Amino acid sequence: MSKCRAILETVDLRKTYRLGDVDVEALRGVNLRIRETELAAIMGPSGCGKSTLMHLLGAMAKPTGGRVLINGRDIAMMNDGQRTEVRRKQIGFVFQKFNLLPILTARGNIEVARTIQGTARGDGHDEHLAELLRLLMIEDKMGRKPSKLSGGEQQRVAIARAVVNRPAILLADEPTGALDSKNSEIVLNMFRELNRKFKQTIILVTHNPELAAYTDRLIEMRDGLVVHDSNPVGDEEISTLVI
Ligand SMILES: Nc1ncnc2c1ncn2[C@@H]1O[C@H](COP(=O)(O)OP(=O)(O)OP(=O)(O)O)[C@@H](O)[C@H]1O
Ligand SMILES: [Mg+2]
Repeated sequence: MSKCRAILETVDLRKTYRLGDVDVEALRGVNLRIRETELAAIMGPSGCGKSTLMHLLGAMAKPTGGRVLINGRDIAMMNDGQRTEVRRKQIGFVFQKFNLLPILTARGNIEVARTIQGTARGDGHDEHLAELLRLLMIEDKMGRKPSKLSGGEQQRVAIARAVVNRPAILLADEPTGALDSKNSEIVLNMFRELNRKFKQTIILVTHNPELAAYTDRLIEMRDGLVVHDSNPVGDEEISTLVI
């Protein structure tokens, strides 16, 4: 077997929230490796720690214990500026709520991501974006504001916004949670296509029982731990350089 890189790795990852004088142990020692170009799904009952894990994987919060390595780099060793940089350049996020800016058109919402990143193209030609919009089937919706789009369309605009800068990892926390079953299916299919076509690494949290058909790997959590992994990354497979 050829060695691959773990684009994301957690080592004994722990997160405890302090609520008044009670400690809530949201993560109790998660060991997880994600392969580059993998589409992995995380499932588990409400409160088992899925969103907490996604926040830590995306460098949006600091662990209480253990480590998160993004491309082999420990996020705990970074200062705030470096962490922000990693979040901006390497991570794309999609949430259950679409979080589009209501006053901007769909195109404007996507362009904001480019402007922030400094990747906007002044000449209007953008092959990658055009291809992305075709894949997401929203090319003809670009002039509309979010209020004039269906939930499924809004989520697809949010996905375009999340991946337009080609992040190394796309994290999606219940991206179909606010959609009906037909739109959920469309959106899940699009994650699959994004993964195949652009080799986009994707981790998604979902409660959708039909999920297995769309993913390479199913990771199940319970009570702050990973309790089942359909395709774990063994030591022999990995060539992570820990810095
Ligand atoms: N900011 C917080 N302060 C205190 N406790 C929190 C906080 N965020 C989450 N928790 C607790 O941590 C645990 C894990 O929460 P988390 O949101 O990660 O679960 P989840 O698996 O995403 O659930 P759901 O499927 O409902 O979204 C829960 O017990 C939750 O109540
Ligand atoms: Mg959650």
